[in-house]
Amino acid sequence: MTAQLNPRGDVAVLVPAAGAGVRLGPGAPKALRLLAGEPLLVHAVRRIAAAPSVYTIVVAAPATEVEAVRAMLAPVAPVTVVSGGAERQESVAAALAAVPAGPEIVLVHDAARALTPPHLVESVAAAVRDGHDAVIPVLPVVDTIKEVDATERVLGTVDRSALRAVQTPQGFRRSVLVAAHRSAGDALTDDAGLVEKQGGAVMCVPGSELALKITRPFDMALAEHLLTTGA
Ligand code: CTP
Ligand code: MG
Repeated sequence: MTAQLNPRGDVAVLVPAAGAGVRLGPGAPKALRLLAGEPLLVHAVRRIAAAPSVYTIVVAAPATEVEAVRAMLAPVAPVTVVSGGAERQESVAAALAAVPAGPEIVLVHDAARALTPPHLVESVAAAVRDGHDAVIPVLPVVDTIKEVDATERVLGTVDRSALRAVQTPQGFRRSVLVAAHRSAGDALTDDAGLVEKQGGAVMCVPGSELALKITRPFDMALAEHLLTTGA
């Protein structure tokens, strides 16, 4: 059954899903790889669609897979599918350009964070609604972090208490994200990083262990395990 999105929702969610998944090893584009029998993108979109504030979802798919992704997602939720770009930022920009008039909150959410719970979508959106221009979900850093030089000699130990590991969905007042992308000059930064470069304020909210980014085969195994235990 297709999940209905909320016609009175105020949130658009962009889902960059056009990456190759090189670090997972040979195979299909990452968003199309199967996790417990379903593509990562299906898991991700189903959870986004379950968040009550969501009005519209725009997926940036691999250019050769746009039709296949439309067909794949049709039974899951009403989504718009556009062709992604060579870099994640281009994929986000393509999805952003396809957001209809209306929603003034825009979230950007990696398809690779396929098990992200709907409540995280809601808490990021709520923080934007409360007046923050840019919001990111974060977790504390658990490992000790060292700075090293090119020869792997340790230069020093970084104060971990001031560090955060950043997840998605990242949330923005629509006009702030549009302005940040318009002036984007650094393809390597995340969306909140574009806002930082513009001098904008970015606020943290608590992230979720379930929003892990599936990057390497180990993460796939962990995600399979989490699904069998109820994620
Ligand atoms: N992404 C995208 N367009 C790109 C590159 C990445 O839409 N040109 C998306 C991915 O599909 C993913 C998210 O951005 O949902 C985060 O990227 P990452 O985890 O790096 O995924 P991949 O780029 O697919 O993986 P890899 O870097 O290992 O190839
Ligand atoms: Mg990548």
